[in-house]
Amino acid sequence: MKLSSEQLKVLEHVRDGITSAQIAELIGMGQGINSIVHSLEAEKLLSSKETAVEEIRIGKEGKEFAKTGLPERRALEAIGTGIEMKELAKKANLKPFEIQIALMWLKKKDWAVMEKGKLALTQNGKGALTQKGKDEHLLEILAKGPQKAGELKGYEGAINDLKGRKNNIEIKETKSFALALTPEGKSVLKNPEKHMQQSGVEALTHEMLKTGEWRNKRFRKYDISQAPEIWPAKIHPLRAAIQKIKRTFLEMGFTEAKGNFIESSFWNFDALFQPQDHPARDLADTFYMKGIEHDLPKHHTHVKHMHEKGGNIDSTGWKYEWNAETAKKAILRTHTTAVSARELAKLKPPAKVFSVGRVFRNETLDYKHLAEFYQVEGIVVGEDVNFKNLLWYLKQFYNKLGFKKVRFRPAYFPYTELSCEPEVYFEEKKEWVELGGSGIFRPEVVKPLLGVESPVLAWGLGLERPLMLKMGVNDLRTFYRNDLDWLRSSGMKDSI
Ligand code: PHE
Repeated sequence: MKLSSEQLKVLEHVRDGITSAQIAELIGMGQGINSIVHSLEAEKLLSSKETAVEEIRIGKEGKEFAKTGLPERRALEAIGTGIEMKELAKKANLKPFEIQIALMWLKKKDWAVMEKGKLALTQNGKGALTQKGKDEHLLEILAKGPQKAGELKGYEGAINDLKGRKNNIEIKETKSFALALTPEGKSVLKNPEKHMQQSGVEALTHEMLKTGEWRNKRFRKYDISQAPEIWPAKIHPLRAAIQKIKRTFLEMGFTEAKGNFIESSFWNFDALFQPQDHPARDLADTFYMKGIEHDLPKHHTHVKHMHEKGGNIDSTGWKYEWNAETAKKAILRTHTTAVSARELAKLKPPAKVFSVGRVFRNETLDYKHLAEFYQVEGIVVGEDVNFKNLLWYLKQFYNKLGFKKVRFRPAYFPYTELSCEPEVYFEEKKEWVELGGSGIFRPEVVKPLLGVESPVLAWGLGLERPLMLKMGVNDLRTFYRNDLDWLRSSGMKDSI
């Protein structure tokens, strides 16, 4: 292997434990040292270990004290054979805020005591007159420039004392790389000429830039394989999937509808021809909101009529009294089909509307059930749409998400007839996975809301399930755990 003169120069300076910053200082090199160290490490000529180095610098107040002496030092020198408190400040040249400091440290260092109303030197204090303390020495050293904590042997106590005194010193921890030669590195150094690059590769200097001389030089290739990994901001996978789905529907000519998490039972159930004693309305499945009651829209009379009389069909023996109070109850919406019901009551056919949103169910949590999750909902309203069109839309949608094989199973929902459940084939596990519900809204749903009978294709699909399959996630909760490692490494590889 061939090394540039800089690489060799750096390698020659490696001693066990030396840091890259120290070498940089020794050979007068700037930031460039890091890439050279990395390149040498990539060649396995040296190893590096991250270490923390504590650097101590003097603080604002410390700088003052280094000049004027610590307040207690000035006080000590002013005491003489004894001094009254009220004279101290002036004689010792203490600023008002320094008086307290001086007294505290005189006591702490056992330099002076109060005797008959006067401050008098102790034995210790007399000694201190001719000998400075470690803390004072330290301030003098630091006044000349910052120091590494490791190089201030014997000053540990003084560092601690000064650390406790505001703004006297600052301790900054910087990360650095401690280097060591590998056996390969040592063998290169035994015969450096053999590894010297002959081609005149040089290091870029300020001078070269200034004169434009760099144009005639050859430089070492830039090695991006040594770049540290960085983790820029990114969109959460779930959010990214939602954006993709929204785009997909918008491209197909749909408009987007939005609803609220808190919904009335009316729009969530009644408008969808779900009987008021339907088990899905049970507390065990649905979250009810205390103290909130919704007003009923004008459609409620039509809906009531439909529930009680079954529309135009005069079904004798059908005894069922629709209760407005039950319909007013507020819940957390259990499906986004409530959004479709609201839209149906507003729109003029033909129309295509979709929504993506969170729904809530009183579920026991486990790896594939959460009490809240997303649904992708849609309706297509028009005279001439039919069941085949519904299957086409669903197929189209899943194809765009990257699922090639889609099939449909007959199903039942109170608000659709025909009804079916789309399933996609999950290649890796070789199994079909059910993803949601769909169908054509019953006339009992459409007539009271839209005012006329018309085919309405409708679907409500799970979002997290297909996403789990796509991303190889086994536990639904992964999406909500905000585990940074997972978030960083996860991404939609192909189509989502
Ligand atoms: N609302 C149904 C569910 O939550 C799905 C569905 C929507 C079924 C629209 C038919 C029509 O499972």
